[in-house]
Amino acid sequence: MTTYNFDQPTERRHTNSYKWDSPQDGVLPMWVADMDFKTAPAVIEALRKRVEHGIFGYTKVPDEFYQAIISWFSRRHEWTIEKDWILYTSGVVPAVSAIIKGLTQPGDAVLIQTPVYNCFFSSIRNNGCTVAENKLIYQDNTYTIDFEDFERQCAREDVKLFLLCSPHNPAGRIWSQAELQKMGNICIRHNVMILSDEIHCELAMPGSHFIPMASVSEEIQHNCVTCVSPSKAFNIAGLQISVIVAENAEWKAKIDKALNINEVCDVNPFGVLALIAAYNEGEQWLDALCSYIYDNYKALCAFFHEHMPYIPITKLEGTYLVWADCSSLGTSDAITELLEREGKVLVNSGTMYGADDKDGFIRINIACQRERMMEGLRRIHTVFKRE
Ligand SMILES: Cc1ncc(COP(=O)(O)O)c(C=O)c1O
Repeated sequence: MTTYNFDQPTERRHTNSYKWDSPQDGVLPMWVADMDFKTAPAVIEALRKRVEHGIFGYTKVPDEFYQAIISWFSRRHEWTIEKDWILYTSGVVPAVSAIIKGLTQPGDAVLIQTPVYNCFFSSIRNNGCTVAENKLIYQDNTYTIDFEDFERQCAREDVKLFLLCSPHNPAGRIWSQAELQKMGNICIRHNVMILSDEIHCELAMPGSHFIPMASVSEEIQHNCVTCVSPSKAFNIAGLQISVIVAENAEWKAKIDKALNINEVCDVNPFGVLALIAAYNEGEQWLDALCSYIYDNYKALCAFFHEHMPYIPITKLEGTYLVWADCSSLGTSDAITELLEREGKVLVNSGTMYGADDKDGFIRINIACQRERMMEGLRRIHTVFKRE
């Protein structure tokens, strides 16, 4: 069995990294959702071969691309996809935006579960729709769904689409079969289409089992469009590749048209080959990565428990994004600013995701070498130390 050394230090400054080259020198970035690890060796090898060819003209997406997706989701997630259901584009945000454009009319409302990934808000508004909110319930360091409110929102005349984040960024939840089924059935009952953003689906922590929304039942699959990508789990977001799965042929045609109108129907040669290599050869590396990230999470919890027990840490079932409750110390924006200025560590403020400023949440990206993460935690501690 191959072993992978995720402790190996990496240098990302001066590589035009958004995460590393935006903050001032000396500030440790634990914000933007990409990882400080090199991608899987198989992906690097596929890209190296392609670079050596030296010609980078327009790309035709080959049959292997579809086969890699179909095989991966069948093997890893027990979900049977047909080639005819698949579309591709240059990212999950462009995908979400085109799906909203294709399936809704300006003035419709799109339901989201807040706090949630910030681009959901902008994609909805950029397409002339309004945001309908089903606030998640925060209790005992985890989030659950307020189903009564969810059904009330779905029953609204203007709510036409439910944009699900699964696994949930930043709440760290992997939704259970029962939760997915309940949400899916409520949507069907009220004629609300489901758009499931499953970009984080490969990042399930040990003990948590990810289930694709569309795999829950045939009825739900017919009422659901799914977005996936290997970009988060294999750290290839810069290669801009994503996949849309729509079993409903009428909806698929509308989405295809919207992708064309938005002119995001072309992809680049690196994204295509990276996806094929990741899905065909990256399984072992991915399992090792998830277990490393989970060990990071456990080390983080132990550190907070020992040194800053007044900051509860939300349970992490999926993603590498830790949601910390700093409400005993102040408001989210002020804390984030203080951490950057005095602690030289950059995190995301909870307000970015629609959380209330007074709730004091910050989001910490732990997809980095353990030593680097511990340095970040020590910096947070210097700012929040209580003697
Ligand atoms: C839920 C979710 N969707 C989409 C994205 C970004 O997708 P892309 O970079 O493929 O546009 C992110 C990035 O963090 C995310 O968390």
